[in-house]
Amino acid sequence: MNEERKNGNAIEIEGLIKVYKGAVRALDGIDLVVPAGSVFGLLGPNGAGKTTAVKIATTLSFPTSGTVRVAGFDVVRQAGRVREAIGVVGQTSGVDVNLNGRENLRLQGLIRSIHGRELKQRVDDLLEQFGLKDSAKRVARNYSGGMQRRLDIATALVHRPQVLFLDEPTTGLDPEVRTEMWQEIERLTHEEGLTILLTTHYLEEADQLAAKLAILDRGKVMATGSPEKLKAELEGDTIHVELREVAEDGAINAALADVKGIRHIDHDVKCLRARVEHGATAVPLVLQALEAKGLSVDSVSVSRPSLDDVYMRYTGREFARADEEGARKQKPSGEEKR
Ligand SMILES: Nc1ncnc2c1ncn2[C@@H]1O[C@H](COP(=O)(O)OP(=O)(O)O)[C@@H](O)[C@H]1O
Ligand SMILES: [Mg+2]
Repeated sequence: MNEERKNGNAIEIEGLIKVYKGAVRALDGIDLVVPAGSVFGLLGPNGAGKTTAVKIATTLSFPTSGTVRVAGFDVVRQAGRVREAIGVVGQTSGVDVNLNGRENLRLQGLIRSIHGRELKQRVDDLLEQFGLKDSAKRVARNYSGGMQRRLDIATALVHRPQVLFLDEPTTGLDPEVRTEMWQEIERLTHEEGLTILLTTHYLEEADQLAAKLAILDRGKVMATGSPEKLKAELEGDTIHVELREVAEDGAINAALADVKGIRHIDHDVKCLRARVEHGATAVPLVLQALEAKGLSVDSVSVSRPSLDDVYMRYTGREFARADEEGARKQKPSGEEKR
């Protein structure tokens, strides 16, 4: 019996630090426990360190310090055992586009030392499960984006891993295909008991799929818990206001400085979001205060806390803005030599 069964944790990360050459501190001491048999979401904007964490947990990169155990095995000292226990779908496809679907799966099986009748059966089952049976003989180059992703996941499952890593599985997919992928991911945990660690920079994806999630920001875990718990911890509402015209620097904060019940304001030149104790009470006060300073309001809405608000509470920034900023700064990860 391996250790995963003993303590019910599929992944245990302690004090993990990764400093890349050039002194980029991609992970700044993270601790995480991923229970077996569910989807765990690692949610963070571009550049937060998600791929770095996945690479270390999947033995593709070394920690600078700290320990990671996957399925009970240490990723540095027992890398071979870890590789046997996991499947990995990277941010970029691992499918060989010159081979057809069946060949891709067979090749993966042979790499994993599965042969003969067992391999044929496994490949047939996966083609069926992932809706690729009719396209099994088509070269993957001609697959749609969604089909390629499905083949990617099927390929990672040939050897029946216990833990599956999906690094941004729906980035670049159409919304419709994304929903299909969500259903597939849910099926894999519910029906097959897989543990899935999924990274994402889509708030709604984490909200929908993750039984538990960790919010990663600038290499640090800012919060962990189920999406419901994290949202419930935020009391109050969020007000979104769109201004008719661009506001001058500092004008929004100045206008709202004396409004009671505002906990936090985040804004750009034309839109603002305020966390307030009570939406219905705060809306008229906020509108009055803005209009009194000559800031005309185009639209206003009130909403219950979302994961976006959770992110803002823990990081002081708006997720979409952090994500764009991260994307601008980011160098491609992946060329690191072992
Ligand atoms: N091979 C590398 N060499 C140097 N810096 C890197 C490398 N890979 C990633 N980084 C940097 O580490 C940080 C985290 O990157 P990454 O783990 O790819 O984040 P995410 O997957 O959350 O977008 C970023 O600042 C990124 O630019
Ligand atoms: Mg990434």
